[in-house]
Amino acid sequence: MQYSTHILAFFIYLLCVASIGAFMRDYYWRDYSPGEIPYDAIEVSNDGKYIGQVYVNGGLIPAMIYPHLGYSVAELHGKQVIKENIKILCCPDHSKLYWGYVDFKQPSSAQGGLMKNAILGGFHKDVGKVFIGKVHHEGEWKVAKVISIENIYNGLIVWKNSDGSPLNFKQFYMLKYNSSTFGGSIVTCDDISR
Ligand SMILES: *[C@@H]1O[C@H](CO)[C@@H](O)[C@H](O)[C@H]1NC(C)=O
Repeated sequence: MQYSTHILAFFIYLLCVASIGAFMRDYYWRDYSPGEIPYDAIEVSNDGKYIGQVYVNGGLIPAMIYPHLGYSVAELHGKQVIKENIKILCCPDHSKLYWGYVDFKQPSSAQGGLMKNAILGGFHKDVGKVFIGKVHHEGEWKVAKVISIENIYNGLIVWKNSDGSPLNFKQFYMLKYNSSTFGGSIVTCDDISR
């Protein structure tokens, strides 16, 4: 009696581990050592630049890693150049990630819920959670923080190369995670028993 209860508990445990595995978003921030690019790091746009995360001016925010230049750039109260304590975004299955085009001038609901699937990029005390966006500006793709559409300061905030001042974009690409499995539909126990 007790023996079979243990076996049952074990199988329930396996089932839980398997289902958590299927729905858990599988990406993470590794410590970045200048010059060493992890095999699973995410490139911004096949351009040798990567997605970083830094703590600067009271915010934990996304940054752009320039490995060939030996520094990272982020925007918070202007352009910030950071050379240490940088994290790099990694994911074992890059096909799960996509850059979704968003337009913050249009209602979120009209675009299927704009913030849906967005990958968390950090946190700032004034604006809350921040996400990861990119836009083509001044001849390159720039990655920076996205302030959520619910916030009055919403948008993707990048730096200007000329004077370092911030620039707010309402139309840009946001990094998202596609957690659908089995070709987009979720198989339930009900489906299996049929
Ligand atoms: C998410 O992945 C599924 C399964 O691979 C695919 O059918 C679907 O088109 C993807 N959705 C997006 C928004 O990329």
